[in-house]
Amino acid sequence: MTDRSEFVVVANRLPASVHRTGTGAETWRRSPGGLVNALEPLLRKRSGTWVGWPGIPGTVTPPESVGGIRLSPVSLDEHAVASFYEGFSNSTLWPLYHDVVMPPAYQQSWWESYVEVNRRFAEAAAEVSAPGATVWIHDYQLQLAPAMVRELRPDVRIGFFLHIPFPPVELFMRLPWRTEIVRGLLGADLIGFQRPGGAQNFLWLSRTLTGAAQVPKQVGAGPLGGAIDLGHRSVSVGSFPISVDAGAWDALSRDPRVRERAAQIRATLGNPRRVLLGVDRLDYTKGIDVRLHALGELLREKRLHARDTVMVQIAIPSRERVEHYRLMRREVEREVGRLNGEFGAVGHPAVHYLHSSIDQRELAAFYLAADVAVVTSLRDGMNLVCKEYVASRHDLTGALVLSEFAGAAGELTDSFLVNPYHVDEVKEAIMQAVSLPAADTRSRMRRLRDHVLDHDIDHWASSFLDELATEHIKVAT
Ligand code: F6P
Repeated sequence: MTDRSEFVVVANRLPASVHRTGTGAETWRRSPGGLVNALEPLLRKRSGTWVGWPGIPGTVTPPESVGGIRLSPVSLDEHAVASFYEGFSNSTLWPLYHDVVMPPAYQQSWWESYVEVNRRFAEAAAEVSAPGATVWIHDYQLQLAPAMVRELRPDVRIGFFLHIPFPPVELFMRLPWRTEIVRGLLGADLIGFQRPGGAQNFLWLSRTLTGAAQVPKQVGAGPLGGAIDLGHRSVSVGSFPISVDAGAWDALSRDPRVRERAAQIRATLGNPRRVLLGVDRLDYTKGIDVRLHALGELLREKRLHARDTVMVQIAIPSRERVEHYRLMRREVEREVGRLNGEFGAVGHPAVHYLHSSIDQRELAAFYLAADVAVVTSLRDGMNLVCKEYVASRHDLTGALVLSEFAGAAGELTDSFLVNPYHVDEVKEAIMQAVSLPAADTRSRMRRLRDHVLDHDIDHWASSFLDELATEHIKVAT
């Protein structure tokens, strides 16, 4: 009882993942991904427990803690990985919530596994939570867990935050298990979305699918929040746009060794006049193909020249056993090959493509080395890369091309906003970004940085947790 936690994070992945070497030995590494980057600094500050999956099938024993965070592992066997993680989470919910960029698949057996695995996460959370603890559940993989935790531990306060977009109601209504998902989420005291539109969609679905009434209430950052009155208690719903540890990125980018590495990267690229940068998990929602296509046309039209403008695309491996991801990788790599064949020269490719994970120092060096960051997501909950890039440009250089379908577009209005479905617009934005006068670059970047440095990860977490604390007190009195 004494080592139970007052603060518990529940997320699909632990903040570290295990890798088995050829000899069977286990090594633990920090997991890639926005969620881990976002929450790790916060958990280190509080002595919380993180409930999550170690990242590979089977039973593994992680260290008791990483970086001061206690770990509570939930093991998934091969079947659960295939049906809960790759199936329902990433072949049903992921494409459905990202505006059906790829067709979702609906399978009853995947759903059953989703229910079963959500229950195991909820049991683990109930087990490690101290009386009256705060339990913060994250993301689309665990939307049933709020109601399950409430059933097991009615004494704890429960927050839920969705990191990915919440879809338009017409798309959500296609889900055969739509009512169960809404009821699962309504187990929370507070439900947070990235954008006001997500909160509005969820409120409409709650009223429509459960018959509950909505009551007016100011919740979170946007104007479209509210509360759902369940009779015996109410659930607050609002938007809380996530951010990055902006101070840490700023400090990293001022580190002389990182700056030196950035200069080295530029030299290795042949000291071109301009470097365009894309950094993404290799995911079909990220629109990597869109920016390659736009670059190809600009090179073909000779508005850009590969001898003085290069693109670096860092593609972090992701969900490699899921069919859509395999196809996407093939398509992206074919396009990189085509561009290099058409426009590159020996020792001077037009696109430098890295298919690998990358640590934060190296990433900061790439951010510093780039003149323009290009984010062309077809749909994105927030997109933390663009905020990391801005936080790293302390010398006020650099420009950002940003998809209007990334959550960050609602805040980073001094970027070059584009519709990624309109290739001419993407091309135009890239041209404007590469040819922007220095004074305009500085003033745009100053405003972008002011916003990101003010609205950092601590701001996000404290605004959510403060709201959650208030909600719970109101419900209890
Ligand atoms: O942003 C959505 C998300 O699923 C995060 O939860 C996660 O950190 C990231 O994408 C990577 O996904 P996965 O855990 O499937 O590798």
